Amino acid sequence: MPKLKRVLVRAVTLLYTASWAFAQLPETRPAGRQAWADVSLSPDVRADMVIEQMTLDEKIQLVHGMGWESIFDPPQAGPGVRALQPWAFIPGIPRLGVPDLQISDAVLGVTGSGGKSRYATAFPSGEAMASTWDLSLAAETGATIATEMRAHGLNMSLGSGVNLTREPRCGRTFEYKGEDPILVGSMAREELKAARAQGLIVGIKHYAVNNQDDGRMFVLDERSMRESDLLPFEIALRDPAVGAVMCSYNKINGVYACENQHMLTDLLKGEFGFKGFVISDWGATHSTTPAAVAGLDMEMPGDDFFGMPLKYAVERGDVPLTRLNDMVHRILRTAFASGVVDNPPQPYVVDVVRGFEAAQKVEEKGAVLLKNADRQLPLEASTIRSIAVIGGHADAGVLSGGGSSQVSPAGDNPVPPPPPTENNILGPGPTVYHRSVPLKGIAARVPGATVRFDAGTDISRAVALAKASQLAIIFALQLASEGEDLPNLSLSANQDALIEAVAAANPHTIVVLETGGPVTMPWIGKVSAALEAWYPGIRGSEAIANILFGDVNPSGKLPLTFPASEADLPHPRLNRQPARASVASSAAASEPSRYVVGDVPARPGFLVNTTPFDAVYDEGLRVGYKWYDAEKKQPLFPFGFGLSYTTYAYSGLKVQPGKELAVTFEVKNTGDRAGEETAQVYLTLPASTGEPPRRLVGWSKVTLGPGEQKSVTVRVDPLFLSVFNVERHAWEIVPGEYQVWAGSSSRELPLSAAVRLGGR
Ligand code: BGC
Repeated sequence: MPKLKRVLVRAVTLLYTASWAFAQLPETRPAGRQAWADVSLSPDVRADMVIEQMTLDEKIQLVHGMGWESIFDPPQAGPGVRALQPWAFIPGIPRLGVPDLQISDAVLGVTGSGGKSRYATAFPSGEAMASTWDLSLAAETGATIATEMRAHGLNMSLGSGVNLTREPRCGRTFEYKGEDPILVGSMAREELKAARAQGLIVGIKHYAVNNQDDGRMFVLDERSMRESDLLPFEIALRDPAVGAVMCSYNKINGVYACENQHMLTDLLKGEFGFKGFVISDWGATHSTTPAAVAGLDMEMPGDDFFGMPLKYAVERGDVPLTRLNDMVHRILRTAFASGVVDNPPQPYVVDVVRGFEAAQKVEEKGAVLLKNADRQLPLEASTIRSIAVIGGHADAGVLSGGGSSQVSPAGDNPVPPPPPTENNILGPGPTVYHRSVPLKGIAARVPGATVRFDAGTDISRAVALAKASQLAIIFALQLASEGEDLPNLSLSANQDALIEAVAAANPHTIVVLETGGPVTMPWIGKVSAALEAWYPGIRGSEAIANILFGDVNPSGKLPLTFPASEADLPHPRLNRQPARASVASSAAASEPSRYVVGDVPARPGFLVNTTPFDAVYDEGLRVGYKWYDAEKKQPLFPFGFGLSYTTYAYSGLKVQPGKELAVTFEVKNTGDRAGEETAQVYLTLPASTGEPPRRLVGWSKVTLGPGEQKSVTVRVDPLFLSVFNVERHAWEIVPGEYQVWAGSSSRELPLSAAVRLGGR
């Protein structure tokens, strides 16, 4: 092709691409110069300037989604160009320069990109992130996900999930960050702050006590709520970064979370000082006036209650206009404060490489080495002649958790998904595998060796391969998804029997777990090593291989307890719905007025779990490890536990009371490899407080070369020393003697010292 023609073709192609890209751009540009355009004005003043010009219909437009059609029949769901998810969109008001809200789930990466043939990074599960205990990595991850959000033209993330793992069989355990409120809240806060700094409205969810997916109604006392389930919110909300709080599906002490005045107005907007808006979970709004008056600001994804019914309620005076203005004010001031009005996102190509690196880092730091007998790991590549890789679709990819947090797999799903179960039709279902192939990752490390794969479906065939190989690596999976809790903590589909049989056949058997939470391990005494890889994300196999072969020294620590058996759980029998009635009819039959509004039909998928029943969390404050400590039960693996290829010694504890309690001690790497230790500090409160035996109050990550020793100081936030006094309705430090502990896990605390706190 002559040069001029080539240049012309290139120019036309570029122009075409650019015009296509701009056609995809959501309507985010201000129409003309508005009075509020003055960026020196505060977000509150700017929001009020817009509100002054708004009609009642425009106000109503901002406080609800586009209707249930946006999920079930997107083409019918009103005007507007949706950046990604048709069901997470609020059209703006071009005449006033109010941008569309282009929203997406983003707990583990941007979701819904597959529907537009676009790429988004699938991060490892929330527990993997929590297992890093790494606040700066939480921030880095938040920033990476936010950058990808903006690249997709999105301006609001539904944010981080901070529900505590009270019930490890919860189908969404993998989305969350474990069982300790201080760890969960601190990690979420860093992640959200960094995401917001990229110019995004960020959310946090599910407010509150939404600790299992089968259940929808929870009973819990005030103090336990404040010191456990609400504390992560309180910690994260100390930073003004959070723009939206998603209220949850369940009832709390008898009142729906999204119309719970105490939770929304008294606590969240009152005591926690939250200035953003409350958005309902998808289908969690149950009324117009009660919800509006209680403090809900936005109904999603429908308009059953906050569409025309809200307009009429305002006209009738049932909902004061001032309250509607407050809803709109909160939404607009959040948009101004986050920067999405002045600096709207411009779509561009996602930085795939950055995403790969970020996801791999989380997995490398978040995978937890549970067992390593006789230093079986790390593997020494030069001595390996043959490996049997068995099970877990390790020839195809790594598992992802299911439901609304699921990031689209890049390319097609390498393992065809089975049909959705009767109880979980929320889709896209739990069986998505990301194309990061463990078999390839392992084979690449031992080019001279024979690496063979067996699916593990026929135990005798797997055993034969294990016998014929120098070592066996079994990948064991536990599927978990939003919409359905796990029936038990056992590995399904005969995987326990497979592991037992392979371990009996080959003394060098290593188990890699890809699970959504803790599982029981009847075979743990028989295998030589076990690595909890969680759901490892788009670079899972690379990270796992790096750990198995020692390029990465594992440093992850469990953010939740692995119980020895279900009998040891606070509720050995899962609180479940009495009868799993079939879709669409059950809830309407049991509570018709709440679910069938006028002629709006019941929504399949959103009614599956709605037959109300109680889950009484009578373990109260004793969440997670606090339960096992209080009940003197020996867990399989305790909270905070995780092995390394090196060892650490603790010494020289000094405790200095003051504004913040300063806890100083020495950590020494006593092995022959560099490593990173998460040194943990726990506190025993005076017996008069009635607190469980110990609570985590801080930690520090310390990197140490072989033989190196460092002094570590952990400064403890006064809130973490406090208990919630229900009578005074306030946090307080109870005067008395406290015991401070330091060490490598909740059950390995070699250092301790007493200190008097509180009082004068
Ligand atoms: C989930 C939320 C999610 C929403 C939107 C709901 O089913 O509970 O976590 O943000 O869907 O996808």
